Amino acid sequence: MERIFVTRKIPESGLALLHPHFEIDVWEDPLPPPRQTLIARGQGCAGLLTLLSDTIDSSVLDALPSVRAIANFAVGYNNIDIQAATQRKIAIGNTPDVLTDATADIAVGLLIAVARLFPQSADQVRRLQWKTWEPLGLLGQDLSGGKTLGIVGMGRIGQAVAKRCYGGWNMRVLYTSRTERPQVDRDLQATRVSFERLLEQSDFISIHTDLNPSTRHLFHRETLRRMKPNAVLVNTSRGGVIDQNALAEALEQKWIFGAGLDVTDPEPLPDDSALRRYDNCLILPHIGSATFEARSAMSQMAARNLLAALQGQPMPYAVNPIQ
Ligand code: DGY
Repeated sequence: MERIFVTRKIPESGLALLHPHFEIDVWEDPLPPPRQTLIARGQGCAGLLTLLSDTIDSSVLDALPSVRAIANFAVGYNNIDIQAATQRKIAIGNTPDVLTDATADIAVGLLIAVARLFPQSADQVRRLQWKTWEPLGLLGQDLSGGKTLGIVGMGRIGQAVAKRCYGGWNMRVLYTSRTERPQVDRDLQATRVSFERLLEQSDFISIHTDLNPSTRHLFHRETLRRMKPNAVLVNTSRGGVIDQNALAEALEQKWIFGAGLDVTDPEPLPDDSALRRYDNCLILPHIGSATFEARSAMSQMAARNLLAALQGQPMPYAVNPIQ
């Protein structure tokens, strides 16, 4: 029986699909296996089932010559050097679609929480500072009333967020995208615009682009300065899209109203990160896909990707062109 290394405990529904076909070695620790351990445990394996916190670069691939397929337990795959994998004819798969709604819900949740001061309000109660009902206390911003939503990257999750905000609050939707999206334009009365226009006109900006060299620190000092002072910035994609030092400055200087982050760079957020200082910066520990349903579906999808590739079939959710 061929062997597979699974780099963390994942929902049983996926492992059950693999058990009849492979000998499975699961890394039981909640923290990622250190690089040398990953290489040691991956020796002789036909496939790996990896997480976004496992770095799979060319040297790891070189150290694991028996590996023919890697199923990433995530829709994002910036943790894997895809070019290096393709050169070595290693099939890479991901888990799109099944986490779209879960992640969009977290993005909208962050948007509401920051706009309506959930962190500051909850803090007031926790610190026994809730004394009375204040006409001028803890005032946030309406989501309705003709607000503009800017979506950076109108893929599946971006569209799901836009749908919620258009349907729920009748927001005007602006977006940036590599491609035209005529159906989105029609269904959501959305408009594809330049990044600059999106920055300048949006009351809420939600980031859904992948992380690549052209999107790293897309939100930096100058771009953050172009946002409206009432704007809320939400990121559920990858932390590296925002320059966090610049965001700390934007919050300090009140260039924007607040930020909601489900992702940071690095993860976890370092103890001394300046972003911890601001109560208008709500940070979650990357829980976009953390629902029972989404994680179980991701587990099955990753398993199906491995199964297919190791049986000589194309992965159902392939990232690179192998086979
Ligand atoms: C992904 O799948 O890329 C998400 O970030 C995980 O929640």
